[in-house]
Amino acid sequence: MPRVKTHLVTWDEVVDWSRNLARLVRESGFRPDLVVAVSRGGFVPARLVCDFLGVENLASIQSQHWTEAAKAGERAILKYPYRLDASGLNVLVVDDIVDTGETLRLARDYVRDNWGPREVKTAALQWISPVAKYRPDYYYLEVKEWVWFQYPWTRLEDTYQFIKRMMSEAYRETGRREWGFSEVVEGFREWYGIDVGEAYYREALRVLVEKGVVDYDAARDRYVLRV
Ligand code: ADE
Repeated sequence: MPRVKTHLVTWDEVVDWSRNLARLVRESGFRPDLVVAVSRGGFVPARLVCDFLGVENLASIQSQHWTEAAKAGERAILKYPYRLDASGLNVLVVDDIVDTGETLRLARDYVRDNWGPREVKTAALQWISPVAKYRPDYYYLEVKEWVWFQYPWTRLEDTYQFIKRMMSEAYRETGRREWGFSEVVEGFREWYGIDVGEAYYREALRVLVEKGVVDYDAARDRYVLRV
């Protein structure tokens, strides 16, 4: 059993889910004039939704999670708030996943209150219903049990963070610091139950070396966790 429930999302799934999301929007009768991608996760789904709905206008707004020093939990904020004249336009705000729901609701409210649109609706490929405080107007998949979705656009970032976590916990539990490449790959598969392929493991280890999280001992072909 993997330690972290993870689902590897393929490019084919992304296209299929985006196509179905666009179909739900079309079937509802809503005709967006402008699609807004919530950056960064919403970029690829929003672009595909534009393609499937025949929408030429694509803008984006970036949200960021902000941990308040004194408070538990994170709050979403907009990173680069700007004005856009969307008067008279139907706007569809698109993200990859609604988890807590804070991000998409914030983006929706911002567009509604600052861009003057005729109507704003929200869409996401996935909606994690048991944890989300906000339900998007359109979603293709309802997720009933929390899982980490490993999307193609976060594959490297997730992989190096997952490897870092695996190595840190192994160190805490057993004092182990050294890993061969194939041990990293095997450990990763055991921990997360997915396989991202050799190129991603190699890139992830390169990033961890660059960040000073691990050292590469070339003579022994081993990766050594810095502690
Ligand atoms: N972003 C927020 N929640 C997520 C999840 N469960 N999987 C992937 N990306 C996410």
